[in-house]
Amino acid sequence: MSRYAELIFEGKKYILPVVEGTEKELALDINKLRDESGLITLDPGYKNTGSNTSAITFLDGEQGILRYRGYAIEELAEKSSFLEVAYLLIYGELPNKPTLHKFQEDITKHTMVHENMRKILDGFPSEAHPMGVLSSLISSLTAFYPNSISPTQSPEEVDLNIIRLLAKMPTIAAWSYKNEIGHPLNYPNNSLDYCANFLSMMFAFPTEKYDADPVVIDALNKLLILHADHEQNCSAATVRVVGSSQASLFSAVAGGINALWGPLHGGANQEVIEMLEAIHADGGNVKKYVEKAKDKNSKFRLMGFGHRVYKNYDPRAKIIKGACDNILNKLGVRDPLLEIAKELEHIALNDPYFVERKLYPNVDFYSGIIYKAMGIPTEMFTVMFAIGRLPGWIAQWKEMVEHKLPISRPRQIYVGHPLRPYIPMGNR
Ligand code: CMC
Repeated sequence: MSRYAELIFEGKKYILPVVEGTEKELALDINKLRDESGLITLDPGYKNTGSNTSAITFLDGEQGILRYRGYAIEELAEKSSFLEVAYLLIYGELPNKPTLHKFQEDITKHTMVHENMRKILDGFPSEAHPMGVLSSLISSLTAFYPNSISPTQSPEEVDLNIIRLLAKMPTIAAWSYKNEIGHPLNYPNNSLDYCANFLSMMFAFPTEKYDADPVVIDALNKLLILHADHEQNCSAATVRVVGSSQASLFSAVAGGINALWGPLHGGANQEVIEMLEAIHADGGNVKKYVEKAKDKNSKFRLMGFGHRVYKNYDPRAKIIKGACDNILNKLGVRDPLLEIAKELEHIALNDPYFVERKLYPNVDFYSGIIYKAMGIPTEMFTVMFAIGRLPGWIAQWKEMVEHKLPISRPRQIYVGHPLRPYIPMGNR
C-alpha cells in the first residue's frame, strides 16, 4: 500500500488505503472501516462518496472538463455521430467504419416494437406525461424479451438486448408523444438514420411526404451526444443500484428514466422553458426572478442553474449556448426566450449570490430553446434527454456487471425510538 490516510478514533489508529484515478483524483477506501472500528461514513445525497471506479466518463467540475472514454466532449460534439458515441461509451473504443456500419445495421433491424405494445399504449390516458409512458413501456420490454431477466444470459444475448433497447427507444419515445396528442402512430422508417427516423416518427403525417430538415437532424445529433453520459449522476446511479440486484437491463433503465424525470435532474429542461415563458409573459422582468431565486423564503430556483459537480461553466452548456444562435438563425427562428435566457445568465453571473455559490448555467439552460426551435414540444424535452442518456446508462450498467460489483446496499444511522412496549389499541 503506497499511499494511505490514518484515522484516529478513541485512541486507536486505522489505516485507510488511498485509491488514485487516472487524473489524480483521490479517494479513501473505507471498505474495511466498519469491520475494524465499528464506524460507517455518513454522507446524505452522496455529496462526497464514490460508489465505484469507472473507465467511462471523466468529469472535472472545478475546471469544467468532460470526456467520454478519454475524448473531449467538444471534439465529439463537433466531429462524431450519436451512434458512434453510443458505441464508444458502451464498448470502450471508437468504432471503425465496418464496425459502425454493422452497429447501425443491427440497430436498424430492431426498431419495430411488438404490436401488443400498442395495446399497452392505448391504455394510457392522453394526459399521461410522456416520461411516465416511456418508463412503463421500457419496463414492459422485459415481458416481450423474457430472456432479459435472466442474470445468466450469454454475452451475445446481453448484446442483443442492448441493441434492442437502443433501437426501440426512439420508437417508444415518439409513440409516447403520439399518445399524448391522440394522433395515429408512425412506424419506423428503416431507410433513415437514427435521428432522422426519430423525427419522422414524431412529425410525419401519413398523407404527406416528410423529410426532416438537415439542420434539425444535425442539431439533434449534437444534443444527443452532449447528453450521452455524465458519470455517477442520479439516474446513472439508479441504473447501477437497480441493476446490482441482477434485475434486467430494461428494468434498470426504466428506473433511470424515472430518476431523470425529476425537476432537479433531467426534468429541469422542461422547467427552464416554462420559467422563461413565465418571465416573458410577466413583461420580461428578469431581475425580479433573480431576486426571487435568491430569496430563501421562496421555493423558486433558477432552473437550469447550478450543479452538484460543476463549480464552473458546464462545458455542455457552453457548447449548446454557442450552437443556439447558429441553429436558430439557420432555421429562421427568432425566439424572445433566448434573449431572456442570455440576460438572466448575465445578471446571475454578476450577482454575488450566484458567484459565491459558483452557480453557472447547466446543460438544461439552453437546450430547451433549441428543442423548441426544432419543433419538439416542451413536455418531450426530458424524453429527448433520456434518448441521449441511454448509451450512458447502458455503459454504466454493463461496467457494473463486468466489474462484478456487489448488490448496492447503503447503511444508515438509526435515530428513531429505542425499544418500547407495544400499546394496545384501546390505550392509544
Ligand atoms: N437557484 C438558486 N439557488 C440555488 C440554485 C438555483 N438554481 N442551485 C443551488 N442554489 C443554492 C442553494 O440554495 C444553496 O444555497 P445555500 O448554500 O445558501 O443553502 C447552494 O446554492 C447549494 O445548492 P444545493 O442545492 O445544496 O446544491 P446541490 O448540489 O444539492 O444541488 C442542483 C444541485 C442541480 C440540484 C441545484 O443546483 C438545483 O436545484 N438547480 C436547479 C435545477 C437544475 O437546473 N437541475 C439540472 C441539473 S443539470 C442536469 C443534470 O445532469 O441533472
